[in-house]
Amino acid sequence: MSQDELKLSVARAAIDYVPDGKIIGVGTGSTANFFIDELAKIRDRIPATVASSKATAERLESHGIRVLDLNEVDSIPVYIDGADEISDSGAMIKGGGGALTREKIIASAADRFICIADESKQVAMLGRFPLPVEVIPMAHRLIARKLDALGGSARLRMKNDAPFVTDNGNYILDVSGLQIADPEALEAEINHYPGVVTVGLFARRGADVCLLGSPAGVKTLTFGRGKP
Ligand code: A5P
Repeated sequence: MSQDELKLSVARAAIDYVPDGKIIGVGTGSTANFFIDELAKIRDRIPATVASSKATAERLESHGIRVLDLNEVDSIPVYIDGADEISDSGAMIKGGGGALTREKIIASAADRFICIADESKQVAMLGRFPLPVEVIPMAHRLIARKLDALGGSARLRMKNDAPFVTDNGNYILDVSGLQIADPEALEAEINHYPGVVTVGLFARRGADVCLLGSPAGVKTLTFGRGKP
């Protein structure tokens, strides 16, 4: 099975987690895109969505699915999104697509986080995938030095020879070389640096369920962490 077939299999499985008549949160990335395309087939069952990026909002709307601003919504029963890495306890690295801040906001608003990923994303210890950190542009070098002091190697994300700019107008540092033994502690530490908008560690609010695509079928991992 190709990686895309694995992503499609978990996107289809995630449809079972969409409650009828409720607003759902929708993530960003290639796996989330497969999910959006599946969601389009049942769009009459849900009133609207909240999107974690401009790209996701555009894709949802291209399918005729209504997108609301988070400020228009009182509750989000389910948030469905991919991950760059997921640990045995449901902690994740996210932000490879640059949407980590809006993803983290919607995840924090949601009652349940359903992670959809192919099995290559499951790791014993987070950190092989460079950890994305969204930063205020004026602070990017300051923050990079602090992240280097933690034992990592921070690089400013670039696109077309210029810094990559997020939907929020900020920059991203990608930190390689970290071995993240205590994701909650590192998330709290990096969040405290002035100039950091969001660290792409989703440990305090990790996944409740992960649907992992494998050639043998979709595995369901349940973490039961609940909303912090
Ligand atoms: C987007 O910013 C990310 O958090 C994605 O959820 C993550 O990078 C997974 O993306 P893929 O599904 O494309 O691997």
